[in-house]
Amino acid sequence: MVSPVAEAAPVAFVTGAASGIGEATVRLFHERGHRVVAVDVDEEGLAKLALLDDVVALAGDVAEEATSTAAVRLALEHFGRLDAAVLNAGIGGSGPLESPGSIERFDRLFAVNVRGIALGIRAAAPALRASGGGAIVATSSVSGLRGDPGTWGYNATKAAVINLVRGAAIDYAAQNIRINAIAPGGTVTALTSGVLAHPELGEAVTRRIPAQRWAAPREQAEVVWFLASPAASYVTGVTVPVDGGLSANGGILLPPQAPLPTRTATEGDNT
Ligand SMILES: NC(=O)c1ccc[n+]([C@@H]2O[C@H](COP(=O)([O-])OP(=O)(O)OC[C@H]3O[C@@H](n4cnc5c(N)ncnc54)[C@H](O)[C@@H]3O)[C@@H](O)[C@H]2O)c1
Repeated sequence: MVSPVAEAAPVAFVTGAASGIGEATVRLFHERGHRVVAVDVDEEGLAKLALLDDVVALAGDVAEEATSTAAVRLALEHFGRLDAAVLNAGIGGSGPLESPGSIERFDRLFAVNVRGIALGIRAAAPALRASGGGAIVATSSVSGLRGDPGTWGYNATKAAVINLVRGAAIDYAAQNIRINAIAPGGTVTALTSGVLAHPELGEAVTRRIPAQRWAAPREQAEVVWFLASPAASYVTGVTVPVDGGLSANGGILLPPQAPLPTRTATEGDNT
């Protein structure tokens, strides 16, 4: 639904918007006055967001160039400008390197998690320039900072995002386009439901997180918001871990503490 709003209200497009961190980002940006183009392959999941005023939904695969160009076109047609792009869509998984189909999976991981971001930057940049500048925030992961078991392909994509962001940030800095990333740690979303549902695995991960709990998606969205905002006007080319201290820990299990195993944050919990 689109309602007439002040021409000056900023406009963002957000990928991976139907669920988890992307959905929390759309809702936070919307609450704080942004108009939003919400992009996802999950058309059904997008339907709930399209009910919000000044949010338009676009079903599409970020690995296809046409999706990012359509997102920017929609932003310009519906709202007349673009100020931020949140390139968050991502998929997980890897499996044993020697297993059948592992390289096809690797190619798909790169297509969504890395190519999707390059295409998003490519499509957004001209519209951001036309607005006098803007911000791009990509989603990497703590899995891009080091390796995880059985996760080699995902690890490679998330590390690639960190250096893609550095290189692109250098090229666009003089055009007043800032490009940064977040590196989420364990966050309660559909992507991680399998880990959390597994009592031993969930507890093992939680015991490596100094905060001793997983993040709520909104806690990731808050840092995306900061990086996209004028408060971060001199920040570009960085990846900010949002991980309760996980990446600061050398891997030592923390002693069990009540209320282990998995104290999770609730929506809006910033403790
Ligand atoms: N949840 C975590 O613990 C965690 C940790 C580190 C990084 N991340 C990253 O955060 C991002 C968001 O993940 P999430 O945890 O919110 O998961 P999620 O599964 O809840 O949301 C991901 C969304 O991306 C969409 N998507 C997947 N492939 C797509 C494609 N090709 N084109 C368009 N949309 C697509 C899905 O439909 C889904 O709505 C991902 O990049 C993920 O790698 C998550």
